[in-house]
Amino acid sequence: MPTQHSDIGLIGLAVMGQNLVLNIESRGYAVSVHNRTAEVAERFVAQHPGRRLRAEPTLAGFVASLSRPRKVMLMVQAGAAVDAVIDSLVPLLEPADIVIDGGNSLYTDTERRDARLTALGLRFVGTGVSGGEEGARKGPSIMPGGPASTWQELRPIFEAIAAQVDGEPCVVHIGPGGAGHYVKMIHNGIEYGDMQLICEAYALLQAAGCTAPEMAAIFERWNDGELQSYLIQITAKALAQTDPDTGRPIVDVILDKAGQKGTGQWTLLNAAENATVISTINAAVEARVLSAHKALRVHASTRLHGPAGTLAGIDRERFVAQVHDALYASKVVSYAQGLALMQVMSRQRGWALDLGAIARIWRGGCIIRARFLHRITEACAAEPELPNLMLAPFFRELLNRCQPAWRAVVAQAVTAGVPVPAFSASLAYYDSLRSARLPANLLQAQRDFFGAHTYERVDRPEGERFHTEWPEVIG
Ligand code: 6PG
Repeated sequence: MPTQHSDIGLIGLAVMGQNLVLNIESRGYAVSVHNRTAEVAERFVAQHPGRRLRAEPTLAGFVASLSRPRKVMLMVQAGAAVDAVIDSLVPLLEPADIVIDGGNSLYTDTERRDARLTALGLRFVGTGVSGGEEGARKGPSIMPGGPASTWQELRPIFEAIAAQVDGEPCVVHIGPGGAGHYVKMIHNGIEYGDMQLICEAYALLQAAGCTAPEMAAIFERWNDGELQSYLIQITAKALAQTDPDTGRPIVDVILDKAGQKGTGQWTLLNAAENATVISTINAAVEARVLSAHKALRVHASTRLHGPAGTLAGIDRERFVAQVHDALYASKVVSYAQGLALMQVMSRQRGWALDLGAIARIWRGGCIIRARFLHRITEACAAEPELPNLMLAPFFRELLNRCQPAWRAVVAQAVTAGVPVPAFSASLAYYDSLRSARLPANLLQAQRDFFGAHTYERVDRPEGERFHTEWPEVIG
């Protein structure tokens, strides 16, 4: 049994936790581990001989094994489990000890826990950790919240274990309280958007008659260009994979019912609470919801009429290029919406989120890592108070260039009966944003008609309210 204290301790040895421990240890830190089922921790340490790892079967022993101020990282399931572990830890900790929650916790839970632990003289950090199992082991993107002074204590470890891009670690102090988990939630919302947009591109290519291996080649080619990203890369690989049992492409035997753990839904709720439009992410979440109603869809498929969902006889090469542009433009809309929401919350909570830095740490390690993210950082640097990412010169030009193809794709999809909720939501947002006049004038007339809610006029100063005596409606 080692006598020296460990630099950090981690509770929760599911795969993410295990991989994070191995990552931290490989950067020269001694790590104590504890798991609810003690044998899991014992086995884990036994499987990695010669490492500076230490399994502690009791929580008291675990806490005692750490150097002061103690750094205890939790990698347990978000929700009640986090509170349960904190409850058991609190009596064992001393002032200034740091508890780090690295799970996908809801940011308001993080704020509640932060307030509680701070009142007890402890320090709390809610941190987003993105990158899945592989990211945790080789270098995730890390989004820590909490006080800046606490960040300085964690900084050496976090910078050592994070993914590196161009010599820069993919971690930055996001802001106080729940800011880190909030930004991870937005990351996940954007992840949902990206995934759904890719799925719609796949559906369109399939409708155009492409086989899975052909689509694998298309996505691989796209991954060499502007769309380069982890999600495009894994999509190419997934499409190329064969099912060993049937010899068919594995995607053809996977049931079309999507799962979700809730971070996308939280993003929608937050956007609704803040009157902010995130229609692409919204469409992505709803597409997952509707996909899960498989039996209803199968039933409806024989009752509700429409085109067969095929795009026969089109110029395939041209169409592939159009889908590429539609995907890219829709993706930009989705990021613009996610960023706008972060900006609103940043102002409202006084978080002072640095959107350029956030885009920078998303370039590596996380699920949405992508080549184009540095363009967001550049746009934010050029104009910190940018009203909408879509108006930054690079993105504006990109959207202007892609919009004819984007329109053609959505129009063809609608005509052929191929559902493209995220592509069309993105395009509708684009067209709404560039509309100097929307039909909301009529909406105001309706409101004034039934509720005397008043309206403003185009020929009078803003803020001046008017009411019309509308004709009476009988019946
Ligand atoms: C990440 C992922 C990760 C996880 C999500 C997906 O950044 O590493 O976002 O956190 O894959 O929870 O959740 P769903 O099950 O909702 O798709």
